[in-house]
Amino acid sequence: MHNLYLVSIIAVFLFGFVVLFGAPYLPTLKKQTDDALDLLALKPGQTLLELGCGDGRVAKAAARRGIRVVGYELNPILVIIAKLHTVKYRKLVTIKWGNFWQTNWPETDAIFVFLLDKYMKKLDKKIVQKTKQQGREIRLLSFTFEIPGRKPIANKGGLFLYKYSK
Ligand SMILES: C[S@@+](CC[C@H](N)C(=O)[O-])C[C@H]1O[C@@H](n2cnc3c(N)ncnc32)[C@H](O)[C@@H]1O
Repeated sequence: MHNLYLVSIIAVFLFGFVVLFGAPYLPTLKKQTDDALDLLALKPGQTLLELGCGDGRVAKAAARRGIRVVGYELNPILVIIAKLHTVKYRKLVTIKWGNFWQTNWPETDAIFVFLLDKYMKKLDKKIVQKTKQQGREIRLLSFTFEIPGRKPIANKGGLFLYKYSK
């Protein structure tokens, strides 16, 4: 009984402390995932960076289309679940445990996020820097939250697609 109590406290802590650094865990549903990947229109072999990859469902759906995925996740429980979830696609999917604000992002063709309003301006600045640094375009797909002051190139059911040119 004591062990169960301890496990529950640890789980609540791990899911709760994330709000200090970003959005809490809430998964994107299948329809939105499929629509997001359709809007991004990545080709097999291209790379998608997922900032806060949760349980890995978006990463798995992307890998099914032959897309390479690098996912960052802060919650270690979700990191384990995401790794298990994508194990069949391990040649395409890399799940990293860490805070995506404090890591050097790999070169990428696109980014997927489902964050919170208050992080969108900071994210915009980071993507502008990354685009200049890598010298090629990045597409951003944000679920639910828009980038303030930037016009999406497409928009469908709460999915916002942006293009960052070098
Ligand atoms: C709203 S959920 C979205 C999960 C997944 N992208 C999806 O769409 O199904 C946001 C996720 O980002 C993670 N997260 C929030 N801030 C983070 C940070 N700074 N670094 C890494 N992961 C973070 C949370 O733990 C949570 O799993």
